[in-house]
Amino acid sequence: MTRLRLAIIISGRGSNMDAILSAAQAPDYPAEPTLVLSNRPDAQGLDTAAAQGIATCTIDHKPFGKNREAFEREMDKVLQAASIDIIALAGFMRVLTPWFVQRWSGRLINIHPSLLPKYPGLHTHQRAIEAGDDEAGCSVHWVTEGVDEGQVVAQARIAIRPGDTPETLASRVLPQEHQLYPEALKLACMQIIERQ
Ligand code: GRF
Repeated sequence: MTRLRLAIIISGRGSNMDAILSAAQAPDYPAEPTLVLSNRPDAQGLDTAAAQGIATCTIDHKPFGKNREAFEREMDKVLQAASIDIIALAGFMRVLTPWFVQRWSGRLINIHPSLLPKYPGLHTHQRAIEAGDDEAGCSVHWVTEGVDEGQVVAQARIAIRPGDTPETLASRVLPQEHQLYPEALKLACMQIIERQ
């Protein structure tokens, strides 16, 4: 069976990355984790990936200053060299330029902790609580030029409880993310494989 070569791009803890790495151990999973890339040298997820024998790479965005595309061109070189077929952004905290998004169009997905199209951007749980919503959740979506605007691949939803804080809500949404992301990545891979 076809297994797409997968890169996961992170900035921190990497718990979603870890969920994907676990799921990808199944022999029939359609993606093969090939590379974990971080823009932060101290990202905890780098150690988690390395401990599982996955190649890791750090490209620090700081020396590039405001030149986001120059930073992305370095990432792109590494991704091309590893013959990557699909990229999963997992807690990657940089907004991508149109150049990178177009280059990886149809091969780039992200997880976002809200029920998109609600609450693109930051502080999603706080915004859901303040709006008086009765549910929250997470979405995996294709990445397009508008931040958190691409077509949704899959979502998971949970009830917001009276007294919930952004922290309590995040603690219940996160396990949903860990379940959703590997499943949604699988769906995205199937779509790419069908297109080939
Ligand atoms: C997750 O909540 C994800 O939805 C958001 O950032 C967080 C990353 O967590 N984009 P982790 O690094 O996967 O643990």
